[in-house]
Amino acid sequence: MRAMNKLKRPVDLTARLATLAFVLILTICADAPVIAEPLQAATADRVGFPRDYRASLKLLSVSVKDDEPSVMTAYGNEQATSITASSQLPYPYGTVIAMEFAHGVRDGEKQIVHDASGTARKGDVARIDVMRRERGYGEVYGDNRAGEWEFASYRPDGTTLVSPEKGGTCAACHRKAGPERDFVYRLRVPAK
Ligand code: HEC
Repeated sequence: MRAMNKLKRPVDLTARLATLAFVLILTICADAPVIAEPLQAATADRVGFPRDYRASLKLLSVSVKDDEPSVMTAYGNEQATSITASSQLPYPYGTVIAMEFAHGVRDGEKQIVHDASGTARKGDVARIDVMRRERGYGEVYGDNRAGEWEFASYRPDGTTLVSPEKGGTCAACHRKAGPERDFVYRLRVPAK
């Protein structure tokens, strides 16, 4: 009897370990939806802040207006720069165009200071407006839909000012640019 008991022990241990592993797996599986939810919420931004956009995107254009933030700089990814004539529109899926609104650096007469190459000098960035085109995008905007674009706006640190779901006001105005421009106000071609 004693010998048999001794023999049974390793089997018991294996069985116990197996049960423990099974329970562990069950616990992990049961927890999975709870873990996934906040992750989904965090990745719900389908436009996305293009981090390091000054380096990672191509410079498309710079324009200066009178009121602050006065210096508007447009940047685009490769898909955006692939379009160099309106005959090539619409923009390919995956296109990202960012519009940075920066305060101009002004002299004593309140005139914007330009560097040697004639470019307006930029100070603090107020916000970065971003539009992204993907298949089926824009449906959330209903009657305000501007093609397959979704719109969002970010602070320079990447935090959200206007989330894509709230981008309906952006879409409503870009809708006025019209389908012949693919709802982009100005054809943005890479700056020389
Ligand atoms: C009242 C109209 C209006 C609203 C609202 C508006 N835009 Fe625009 N947007 C324009 C105009 C006009 C231009 C062109 C400006 C220029 O080049 O002088 C422009 C330019 C842009 C560009 C550069 C590409 C282009 O169309 O020339 C991006 C990107 C952009 N807007 C994103 C946004 C986002 C994101 C929002 C909302 C957070 C937004 N816009 C809200 C009118 C609007």
